[in-house]
Amino acid sequence: MTKLAVIYYSSTGTVHAMATRLAEAGEKAGAEVRLRQVAELAPPEAIASNAAWSQHFDETKNEPKAAADDVVWADAVLFGTPTRYGNVASQLKQFLDTLGPQWSQGQLADKVYAGFTSTMTAHGGQESTLLALYNTIHHFGGLVAAPGYTDPLKFADGNPYGVSHVTGGSNDAPLTDVQLNALDHMAQRVVRLAGKLSA
Ligand SMILES: Cc1cc2nc3c(=O)[nH]c(=O)nc-3n(C[C@H](O)[C@H](O)[C@H](O)COP(=O)(O)O)c2cc1C
Repeated sequence: MTKLAVIYYSSTGTVHAMATRLAEAGEKAGAEVRLRQVAELAPPEAIASNAAWSQHFDETKNEPKAAADDVVWADAVLFGTPTRYGNVASQLKQFLDTLGPQWSQGQLADKVYAGFTSTMTAHGGQESTLLALYNTIHHFGGLVAAPGYTDPLKFADGNPYGVSHVTGGSNDAPLTDVQLNALDHMAQRVVRLAGKLSA
């Protein structure tokens, strides 16, 4: 059975919803799935300053936290992060930066990886965030399995670098079928490719 880890950070729930959909799609594709959030690092006063952030933190604080073993264990890994100034959120970056011991032993190499993200605005840095994330995957010796335009549905969401969503000015635009279909496609694809690699 192909092992899929979906590892993400989310402040206000968007990337959490994307991660949950990817996990469901991975299971439907026949994978054993670990859905893991990385630890929140922001100070309590920063979280308290944003009602949506506080609510999401309270709702998900008991969910299983990502550990290095979740990456080592997996055949395929999907990393998710909201955009922060066109870059990876520090919470996910911190998790990646704890993986030095596993990296130095080659335990992160030869796996299939891809990423997903969200921004508030349409040109707010989705591509730069995913490309920044993939810098790390290259250092792992991982295989970046960005979805490209490998299915006609990718012309609807329009992001060949991964899957992404625009939350809009009030930061709460829900995922539509366009993103849900693209998430399903990316999960199915990494599970299929990781299965071929293992075989
Ligand atoms: C410090 C900070 C920096 C951000 N930088 C950007 C940005 O560069 N471009 C953008 O469109 N949105 C930016 N945003 C908005 C977030 O990307 C958006 O709220 C996020 O994608 C929602 O995901 P979440 O609900 O999973 O937290 C930023 C938000 C914060 C708090």
